[in-house]
Amino acid sequence: MTDTGRIWDELQVLGGRAKERNMKQLFEDGDRAAEFSAGFDGLLFDYSKTNIDAETRDKLILLARRAGVDVRRHAMFSGERINMTEGRAVLHTALRATDRARVMVAGKDVLVGVRETRARMAEFSTAVRSGDFKGAGGAITDVVNIGIGGSDLGPAMAVQAVTPYADGPRCHFVSNVDGAHIADTLAGLNPATTLVIVASKTFTTIESMTNAATARDWMAQAVAEPGQQFVALSSATEKAEEFGIASERVFGFEDWVGGRYSVWGPIGLSLMIAVGAEGFGEFLAGGAAMDSHFQTADFDQNLPVLLGLIGVWNHQVMGYATRAVLPYEQRLARLPAYLQQLEMESNGKRVSMNGAPLKMEAGPIVWGEPGTNGQHAFYQLIHQGVQVVPCEFMVAAEGHEPDLAHHHRLLVANCLAQSKALMVGRSLDRAREMMAERGLTGDALEMQAQHRVFPGNRPSTTLAFDKLSPRRLGQIVALYEHRVFVEGVVLGINSFDQWGVELGKELANTLGPVMDGGDLPEGTDGSTRALVEFLRRS
Ligand code: F6P
Repeated sequence: MTDTGRIWDELQVLGGRAKERNMKQLFEDGDRAAEFSAGFDGLLFDYSKTNIDAETRDKLILLARRAGVDVRRHAMFSGERINMTEGRAVLHTALRATDRARVMVAGKDVLVGVRETRARMAEFSTAVRSGDFKGAGGAITDVVNIGIGGSDLGPAMAVQAVTPYADGPRCHFVSNVDGAHIADTLAGLNPATTLVIVASKTFTTIESMTNAATARDWMAQAVAEPGQQFVALSSATEKAEEFGIASERVFGFEDWVGGRYSVWGPIGLSLMIAVGAEGFGEFLAGGAAMDSHFQTADFDQNLPVLLGLIGVWNHQVMGYATRAVLPYEQRLARLPAYLQQLEMESNGKRVSMNGAPLKMEAGPIVWGEPGTNGQHAFYQLIHQGVQVVPCEFMVAAEGHEPDLAHHHRLLVANCLAQSKALMVGRSLDRAREMMAERGLTGDALEMQAQHRVFPGNRPSTTLAFDKLSPRRLGQIVALYEHRVFVEGVVLGINSFDQWGVELGKELANTLGPVMDGGDLPEGTDGSTRALVEFLRRS
């Protein structure tokens, strides 16, 4: 048996033991809150409300070491082609590098191009914000980012997150090929003062190309030269130019930036227009600070390593199938969707690096909503459902609305109450007492009491910080990127390809003509055939 194989077996034993105990017992010895938390640059990561004890943590860290997290980390940061199925380096960290002199790929320092492009972005976004760059009707009032997946979720999530810092034109995001999305977004906008950003790494994605063409037609009705109000963000710069966007408004990036990791470069242009080059720089600096923490902190104090290992513990060892991300921060409303792509597109895999089937499940289902809204929707299941859902809470000490500080105090109190309730639960005895106090007796008391039991002993982590600034956002996003990396290395996965999205795209290409009235391909299954017939008839 391999070294890691033995560690996995030992973790299973520890997992069995953890299932037999209540995590509340772990608080009986020492200062667990201090011993099972780690801080970095304004962030506090508390994982004391998990069923991890010191022995388990040591074992998980050993697993990370034996799996080669440090070696792979070095390989990633130094530009090795760790995305082996596509033969690419993985260097989104170079997009936010602030203190590194050089990052070499194939004998070339990639930072030279990164800095050049960032300077062009800064120049352009400053011109848009100041009104020096004009549409046919004057200064730009609205920016529409057309993109999907990583070319949408990153900027859409980030622009909303830093709303209090935004003082540029309004930003809108169109992703879905459903015409409703672009129709609703463009309705009410003035084409003569709108800038359209077409964000697509490949510049072939059917949704984005269809939406871009529709936006161009919309603009052409009111603007003589619509191409002048279009910008492209892409690795396929020549395709963008073919679409009619002049090269000075094409911002390119290299193939070593994966789509879901791309918000740090040109794909973040809408964020830069919203908050300015300086605010964008703070976002990058937050990410860069997390990079250096990830590279240098001991594993037992290393936030991405700890978060990754807790993910492995909950999913692969304890067998919890899903993970809820619960930001108590309304402006992080798109973060769960962003993390869904980051985690599930990266680690939702069935084979390991060498193509052999994985021996265990990979990629938990990630979902969530901001608190307190979720409390009035799905927390019922989280507290009393049969399946255990590890929860990842996030909360800031301070909001951005000083006049509404009492709202924020309530928000924080709710966040703390939820993680506490998940851990401590409510016993049957206590539920019986409560029912007796209400005057119930006998079978009625027993029945009502059973419904009011909370099993407790449900794991959660809390990421606390002072205030959600561009810098904090950068730290949080980079923290999660590296967490996904750590999980991927421990599971032996290539976290940087996404072959699982291909088949659906291929089939959509064959079914597109069918929906235009063409014949169904030979051998089409009966279900698809019947659905096509119904949809064509209706
Ligand atoms: O289909 C998945 C995907 O390739 C994502 O990985 C990517 O973020 C998204 O599509 C958009 O791709 P592009 O930026 O090339 O349009």
